[in-house]
Amino acid sequence: MLGVNGSPRGEKSTTLKLVEAVLTGAEEAGAQTELIDLCALSIDYCNACAVCYKTGECIHNDDFGKVYDEMMASDGIVFGSPVYFGSVTAQMKTMIDRMSDAVHCQLLLGKRIASVSTAGSQGHQEVEDYINRVMVAMGATAVGSTGADMVDPAGMELALEEARQLGKTLVREIQEGTIHPGQEEFHRTMRERFGRVVGANKEEWTHEYEHWKKMGWL
Ligand SMILES: Cc1cc2nc3c(=O)[nH]c(=O)nc-3n(C[C@H](O)[C@H](O)[C@H](O)COP(=O)(O)O)c2cc1C
Repeated sequence: MLGVNGSPRGEKSTTLKLVEAVLTGAEEAGAQTELIDLCALSIDYCNACAVCYKTGECIHNDDFGKVYDEMMASDGIVFGSPVYFGSVTAQMKTMIDRMSDAVHCQLLLGKRIASVSTAGSQGHQEVEDYINRVMVAMGATAVGSTGADMVDPAGMELALEEARQLGKTLVREIQEGTIHPGQEEFHRTMRERFGRVVGANKEEWTHEYEHWKKMGWL
């Protein structure tokens, strides 16, 4: 189980505490865990060059490669971001933008994900929903989320316990292969949509076209 924290506040991060609680729950359920502090890494912006669509490789030689490798090697991932002006932090968004080939090729298919967020006063649910929506669009299955507003100390206590349970749920769903019919249907529509996109660009996006053929989707 991989945790990815997008708060720049290091050890002081409340979002980190929730990510860690998810990982603790996962460990209690028998999983091995790993934690990535996104803000301690150097990750460049996607510049939309589309080279990864053609070759499967990014032109940037930075820390994103190892984050991507860890994600691909993990059955379960929990993403955490505090609310920054109603959205995820720039660091989390920079990571997400580097994953457009994951949408085209549905690279998170088969993985279970969850998200956690904290806000000063409001908005954690929107951020959790945003992260889960993006990851489900990349093929992942979202098992849930939790978060808290820091103005309400009781909220954090509750969220910490929910986060621990979320870690256990992630492990259980990975082991049992729980079906989420709504998300399965959404994945089907994404394959239809991106089958058209990748097919229409097959001369240029050779790596992605090959991936699609290998998966038997085209
Ligand atoms: C740049 C910036 C933008 C923020 N925007 C919001 C916001 O829109 N709504 C909110 O409730 N809190 C906002 N906050 C407060 C953080 O969401 C809050 O302190 C959060 O708990 C920090 O999480 P962390 O401890 O994991 O870094 C903002 C903080 C910063 C530094």
